[in-house]
Amino acid sequence: MSQPLVLGIETSCDETAVGIVRGRTLLANVIASSVEEHARFGGVVPEIASRAHLEAMQPTIANALVDAKVSLKDIDAIAVTAGPGLVGALLVGVGSAAGLALGLDKPIYAVNHLAAHISVDYLTHDKDLEPTIALLVSGGHSSLLQVDDITSSITKLGQTIDDAAGEAFDKIARVMKLSFPGGPAIDLLAKDGSASAIDFPRGLTTSNDWQTRPYDFSFSGLKTAVARYLENVPDYVRADVAASFQEAIVDVLLLKSLAACKESGIDSLVIAGGVAANSRLRAVAAARCEKVGIRLRIPAPALCTDNGAMVASLGALMVAAHRPPSPVAFDADSSLPVGVISLS
Ligand code: KG4
Ligand code: ZN
Repeated sequence: MSQPLVLGIETSCDETAVGIVRGRTLLANVIASSVEEHARFGGVVPEIASRAHLEAMQPTIANALVDAKVSLKDIDAIAVTAGPGLVGALLVGVGSAAGLALGLDKPIYAVNHLAAHISVDYLTHDKDLEPTIALLVSGGHSSLLQVDDITSSITKLGQTIDDAAGEAFDKIARVMKLSFPGGPAIDLLAKDGSASAIDFPRGLTTSNDWQTRPYDFSFSGLKTAVARYLENVPDYVRADVAASFQEAIVDVLLLKSLAACKESGIDSLVIAGGVAANSRLRAVAAARCEKVGIRLRIPAPALCTDNGAMVASLGALMVAAHRPPSPVAFDADSSLPVGVISLS
């Protein structure tokens, strides 16, 4: 059989995204974002996101089919994000995907958004690296994972105990009156600053923390330290604050990722999720991994933030691994755990 043609739908947050892949080849990746409708609120408003998904769904699917130069009847399977995410937003994608699967009489794979973030890497690298350590850093999640098989076995080693890394970027950007989402704005501003100008705290890195919870993260102390600095140092240099804050996050993410590689004896690291688009994280990760002989993979920046290609990619990997499809009637799960890769 030729490689399966899979259409993936992603609506967990503010992007209505549709991707089409044939096996591990990306054919289309179309994104309609409602980010500008949320910007003035400084965060995603669930009701606005759900309504925007409803409006954007049909045209986004149509555009993806045009880009991929295929028609609906050619599609072999549908994949959709079942969670985690905003439940009202997820339901629009899930309802659309179930309707398509029923109408086309094709299997549906209800997949995990977090696993999908990691699986997008399989579109750009033709060799599998399993087992691998995965650092997943997005707006809603920050965790360290061990991936033994992307379609069936993901184990959580640790996670943030308060804010997600992307959330910390967004909150500090708001305090600094930068645009939303904050990650790209801080990334840009930091390029003009010094990463060593201010020594901001690295959460959960005391020797006791390394003993008791080596793979957990905490960013709330850093957030408070930056806010206090901004209050107490009236003539602060904005770019230095951005660069030093970013450095504290990058440093601790990589310290813990490389510790997980060392401890597990796994010499491969994948970094995924929206924060993996950060230019400093990418550069420091490349340098540190090279130094200790760890193979590093980070998807292209456009594939790090939410997209439909990642969902289609995981769907195609499920088909290739002969995993059973999901029942057509399934619930979106706003807090789907990362170990549940697809609903069965
Ligand atoms: O994975 P994603 O698109 O959505 C979620 O699943 O949450 O991640 C969005 C997060 C936001 O917090 C955004 O500020 C952050 O990723 N982000 C970045 C960059 N681009 C996006 N953070 C740091 N640097 C970036 N260049
Ligand atoms: Zn995401």
